[in-house]
Amino acid sequence: MPSVKVADGIYWVGAVDWNIRYFHGPAYSTHRGTTYNAYLIMDEQITLVDTVYRPFAGDLLRHIREVVDPSRINNVIINHIETDHSGSLPVIMDLVPNARIYCTQRGKEGLEKHYFGDWDYNVVKTGDELKIGKKTISFIEAPMLHWPDSMFSYVKEDAVLMPNDAFGQHIATNFRFDDEVDIDEVMDEAAKYYANILLPFSPLVLKKIDEVTKLGIDIKMICPSHGIIWRKDPGRIINAYLKWAKGEAERKVIVVYDTMWESTEKMAKAILAGLTAAGVTAKLFKLSVSDRNDIIKEMINARAVIVGSPTINNDILPTIAPLLDDMKGLKPRNKLGLAFGSYGWGGGAVGTIEGRLKDAGLEIISEPVTVKWVPTPEELDKCYEAGKMVAEKL
Ligand code: FEO
Repeated sequence: MPSVKVADGIYWVGAVDWNIRYFHGPAYSTHRGTTYNAYLIMDEQITLVDTVYRPFAGDLLRHIREVVDPSRINNVIINHIETDHSGSLPVIMDLVPNARIYCTQRGKEGLEKHYFGDWDYNVVKTGDELKIGKKTISFIEAPMLHWPDSMFSYVKEDAVLMPNDAFGQHIATNFRFDDEVDIDEVMDEAAKYYANILLPFSPLVLKKIDEVTKLGIDIKMICPSHGIIWRKDPGRIINAYLKWAKGEAERKVIVVYDTMWESTEKMAKAILAGLTAAGVTAKLFKLSVSDRNDIIKEMINARAVIVGSPTINNDILPTIAPLLDDMKGLKPRNKLGLAFGSYGWGGGAVGTIEGRLKDAGLEIISEPVTVKWVPTPEELDKCYEAGKMVAEKL
């Protein structure tokens, strides 16, 4: 995989990680791998925008060398300090110890505490510009998109936006641009990225898109730090972000459950049948055999989330808790919720589920649906009717 020309004088010099299967420790599944995108801007002052995860420093250097001797780099812009992007900064700074580093104030604080380098930091804020010759790079702070230090860099003359994690996707491909790949696959990963990382910051996403729109800048290309570059249709990902940030949903429900001896599973399938009969798009996920991050992706455009668990130790099954914990942190907007579950000698699970759905900001549709021991045909009818009732509320 060689370096790739992105625009006149701008090159992709990043790395492709085909094998990573979890990101942020165990928090995020990456079935399709990822890329760490870094960009080299050739001008009177040679400028590197971001680096790559440290194990891929060799790829970064090889790709830079295909364009220029790395010892000629003058500036390094660090849009975001997380180590998947800044990890190879010490390798670069060993080669060019006098290079100027451009980052936000919080970026500087973070880099100092990560790498302890005695480097030439230059703090920038929104509106600041760096003239590197014929090209001008302007900076837009983007706190909490997705970390406090985050910022976007914009190459004015080429109308190229480099927003780091924003608009990215965890997908490894041997192509770099949106017009070269299966766009549905890319959008699927973009939705998963938004749902699992950016969702709690949706109000800030809306504000930032509004701010950038008001700046009136032309955006011909969006070069994120993961996945493919939006060259053919940058508007596609911007519009998707607007939709996700507003919490716009479809007539869709997800039913998530786990089961001990199949009673809760029978209930889940009866609820699903009721939803289906009412003409709603409904998907069923058994948590012990499903990927939590994929479920959260499905949640992003669902109007309701129905969660079921049998009772164990007066509480939920342990496989249910991580999803509910994630939902509390991610704060999905404009969603309805319902709890269900079976119990034996004593209950408790549905109360926990309902409480946690409320904590996550969901509006509870009705009392939980419960069954003692094994559901009778009449009780399964009750579950079926619950599914239809949820459909009517959408
Ligand atoms: Fe926040 Fe791709 O790192």
